[in-house]
Amino acid sequence: MIRETRKSDLVKQLISDNDVLLNLVVESSDTIIGNVVVSKITMTPDIGLFCGGVAPLSVLPEHQSSGIGSQLMKEAIKKSKETGMNGLFLLGNPDYYGRFGFKVSNLESDYDAEYLQELELTKGCLVNLKSKITYANEFMS
Ligand SMILES: CC(C)(COP(=O)(O)OP(=O)(O)OC[C@H]1O[C@@H](n2cnc3c(N)ncnc32)[C@H](O)[C@@H]1OP(=O)(O)O)[C@@H](O)C(=O)NCCC(=O)NCCS
Repeated sequence: MIRETRKSDLVKQLISDNDVLLNLVVESSDTIIGNVVVSKITMTPDIGLFCGGVAPLSVLPEHQSSGIGSQLMKEAIKKSKETGMNGLFLLGNPDYYGRFGFKVSNLESDYDAEYLQELELTKGCLVNLKSKITYANEFMS
């Protein structure tokens, strides 16, 4: 069962800095076995879009490859849309995230361009965008 939480130890720093937009966990016998966070990102210049960065997404090794990561990603996308976000970004293997509709982004960032991916939640909002994407400070430390 997926539930929404703001108390995961995994994202304590993001939470204390008020950078978490969404935090979902999957529990089994009161143990968190999977977690996904959508956190604030900065777009420079800011043209008024509300976008989030998906990170971290993690599933305990003994529970991997049983669909939990996919379940978390699908729910994170759904809830991000419901929250009014225009788009999502993430860093990861395109072979995995392509299945959720993410595509390699052309936007500028300080991260490896091969792995920066985007998903429009509002159709067309990222087309021709020139802004630079920056994750919350916690990811740099
Ligand atoms: C990545 C991760 C969240 C996926 O969660 P999961 O519950 O194992 O994923 P699912 O069961 O929904 O999907 C499993 C599929 O993803 C693939 N997959 C898992 N990790 C992958 C990765 N890093 N790159 C590409 N494919 C990956 C598996 O091969 C499997 O493929 P299949 O469906 O064709 O069999 C999980 O493996 C994990 O926590 N890994 C360690 C942390 C990590 O690497 N996070 C960043 C990911 S880029």
